[in-house]
Amino acid sequence: MDLILSHAKIVTMQPGDAGYQVSEPVYIGIKDGKIDTISDQPFAITAGIQEINCAEMLITPGLIDCHTHLIYAGNRSHEFEMRQKGASYQEIAQQGGGILSTVTSTRHASEEELVVLALPRLDGLIQSGVTTAEIKSGYGLTLSDELKMLSAAKKLADHRQINIETTLLAAHAIPPEYKNKADAYIDYICDEIIPAVAEQQLASAVDVFCESIGFNLNQTEKVYQCAQRHHLAVKGHTEQLSNLGGTALTAQYQGLSADHIEYLDKTGVQALSESGTVATLLPGAFYFLKETQQPPVELLRKYQVPMAIATDCNPGTSPFSDLTLMMNMACTQFGLTPEEALRGVTCHAAKALGLQDTKGRIISGMDADLTLWNISHPANLSYETGIPRVAGRIVSGNFSAGNASPSLSSISTTSGDGK
Ligand code: NIG
Ligand code: FE
Repeated sequence: MDLILSHAKIVTMQPGDAGYQVSEPVYIGIKDGKIDTISDQPFAITAGIQEINCAEMLITPGLIDCHTHLIYAGNRSHEFEMRQKGASYQEIAQQGGGILSTVTSTRHASEEELVVLALPRLDGLIQSGVTTAEIKSGYGLTLSDELKMLSAAKKLADHRQINIETTLLAAHAIPPEYKNKADAYIDYICDEIIPAVAEQQLASAVDVFCESIGFNLNQTEKVYQCAQRHHLAVKGHTEQLSNLGGTALTAQYQGLSADHIEYLDKTGVQALSESGTVATLLPGAFYFLKETQQPPVELLRKYQVPMAIATDCNPGTSPFSDLTLMMNMACTQFGLTPEEALRGVTCHAAKALGLQDTKGRIISGMDADLTLWNISHPANLSYETGIPRVAGRIVSGNFSAGNASPSLSSISTTSGDGK
């Protein structure tokens, strides 16, 4: 064993009611970055083993933010002012603002600058207990700028203890060079961007903004087909502002997730159910755009579609970097239960990234990605916001102290010396 967590109360997030129950204090043995053994009996502490006394604090699977646009330059607070004076998100986009204004700033930034600009946002996620974050490109829209964004996203893992998953979102907006030539831009994505990203292994999935102000169904399908030819998973921003049928298309291509989905109807929900595609709810964007159309939560429950929750952290529709705040919003705005919210940022978020066999639950054999909380019941994560509650995080078996007071490391880390 490399690390032992003792006196920990755990919530495993296994399927079924038991997965959400708080255990009696247990001992977790971690070896080679994986959860090795969970026992109600203490382990022998031998030389070189780090032991952390969790003082009966709660451990959940490390939180997973499965949808972010964390890498970008610039700031769109002026657009927020325009919206507060009556302009809509779509109107701002049609006037060349919106995503394209962030594209201009991001193209001007170097890879190193993008890393520096993203770190405060990443720190926000870390302070809310996140151990894995997905990050999309989509503000470059040229081959070199998309590669720059993806490479910057991966470099974040050199600066912080966190797992980063990257997604290519070249089909986020039509770049100015291709104005009124969306089909030609799709050809460029398929002929040049996807092959290069696949070859350089800079992303594991490909996303498309399938929307009236994004790409139509034909264009989305072309991107999905090309992604699959290059052995990349697919996912979509679908049914966010209108019902185009992008979710059903994503399901048809066995997509990992369909995200936003406020305008999704029953046919789309059934398609998700049949394909096993995750429905990712983004309550930050719903709130920030003052959307009134509710995602079809009751239908998603009825058809047993797993629901994930993510920040969608981006400068235009969701300038938020706190995943527990999103849990709170998913409960208050969409009517989720705190249990559904926690599944949405653990096991279901893992599935939305294709990582359900290694992350998102606490059982032996899974990656040792865990969050220690200075709380006694998991509902607290959806209930309170703004209070530092992360006592520590474990990423691939490596412990780092969190921001909760008192900090866990200051009270109880011991290193076994054989005595
Ligand atoms: O997930 N919907 C498209 N993309 C982002 C918004 C990006 C932006 O406005 O910069 C979203 O909401
Ligand atoms: Fe998004």
